Amino acid sequence: MNCNLAVIKGDGIGPEIVTEAMRVLDAVGEKYGHTFSYTQILMGGASIDVHGEPLTEEALEIAKNSDAVLMGSIGGNTSTSPWYKLPAQLRPEAGLLKLRKALGLFANIRPAYLYDELKKACPLRDEVIGDGFDMVIMRELTGGLYFGERHTEEVNGVRTAVDTLSYNENEIRRIAIKAFDIARKRKKHVISVDKANVLDSSRLWRAVVEEVAKDYEDVTYEHMLVDNCAMQLVNNPRQFDVILTENMFGDILSDEASMITGSIGMLSSASLAEGKFGLYEPSHGSAPDIAGQDIANPIATILSAAMMLRYSFDLDKEADEIEAAVKAVLADGYRTVDIMSDGMKKVGCKEMGQLIIDKIK
Ligand code: NAD
Ligand code: IPM
Ligand code: MN
Repeated sequence: MNCNLAVIKGDGIGPEIVTEAMRVLDAVGEKYGHTFSYTQILMGGASIDVHGEPLTEEALEIAKNSDAVLMGSIGGNTSTSPWYKLPAQLRPEAGLLKLRKALGLFANIRPAYLYDELKKACPLRDEVIGDGFDMVIMRELTGGLYFGERHTEEVNGVRTAVDTLSYNENEIRRIAIKAFDIARKRKKHVISVDKANVLDSSRLWRAVVEEVAKDYEDVTYEHMLVDNCAMQLVNNPRQFDVILTENMFGDILSDEASMITGSIGMLSSASLAEGKFGLYEPSHGSAPDIAGQDIANPIATILSAAMMLRYSFDLDKEADEIEAAVKAVLADGYRTVDIMSDGMKKVGCKEMGQLIIDKIK
């Protein structure tokens, strides 16, 4: 198979981690007879520095014409980087939001799985971890607060900022269907997370989820309030199979879920449109605090590349191979600094990538 990928290395650790994911893809391609061709495009700070805007129309066209997009992460230190002196629509994150919307990437899948090998890196007590956990967060990605109208104005001489949170039933239905479809292939349990005790958008969310659930009699479901969910993730993570939630709640809960797998450097993600098209990126950011030091964990990005093989190209065997290679390297005791524990062997970003490639070869 020939896969035509648009690649966004991005900012901070982005170039380091994407380079390793591309090398892993090439190793898989060599073994199984696939070719991955890469067209690099600029987004985020890297694009601002060259073009004065975070995503040009030309770059967007290349992404649209690709078979799938592989991405690192964008952005800088939001307190100190000059990018954050620019108007909001010219900052790095605006490029990512424009790309998600323009490509119709409404379904963000973020799997939070605790490898047995990483139990010592998990901050939870052994009794809470038990025999581990394996959940998927289904985050709605092109609606809600991120895409509502916003403005800042003076009201009677008082600075006032407004962000609007709006969802229509179609936006809720399509992500709910994806969540129930995925649950059907897993442990058949959906927990839909909302704030229906306060928000109208959450009350509509609940109503639509209940309608969708009627078509999935083999899948059990419940509703959970988001504040309780944040608590339950660290109190009893084993209760979760599929978490279905809106954009902002999913952003926050997925960072929390990542940490109980050992590190945010482990959490991959797929952002899917209708059909086979998707963008694949780690859930974490550009980690400006560790950029350029060859210490970032590339595993989230490498596992995102595996998700790409599975979801966009139906290359399940090849995706399994990457996932097995990651597990084998962890079993051999190799760790980047974020997942380091006593008695393990510390490696950098490049070395971690190479160890995974060596398992594939
Ligand atoms: P972050 O995820 O970049 O970093 C949070 C902490 O996790 C830092 O201590 C960092 O060193 C660590 N970390 C993150 N990824 C790691 C990895 N692979 N290996 C080891 N450690 C890792 O979050 P932040 O500091 O809040 O944000 C930094 C920038 O990233 C901001 O500009 C933000 O907007 C952007 N961001 C981008 C994306 C994206 O491109 N999808 C996602 C989240 C944040
Ligand atoms: C993520 C990031 C983005 C989000 C930012 C960079 C806009 O935090 O992908 O989780 O909030 O969606
Ligand atoms: Mn986030």
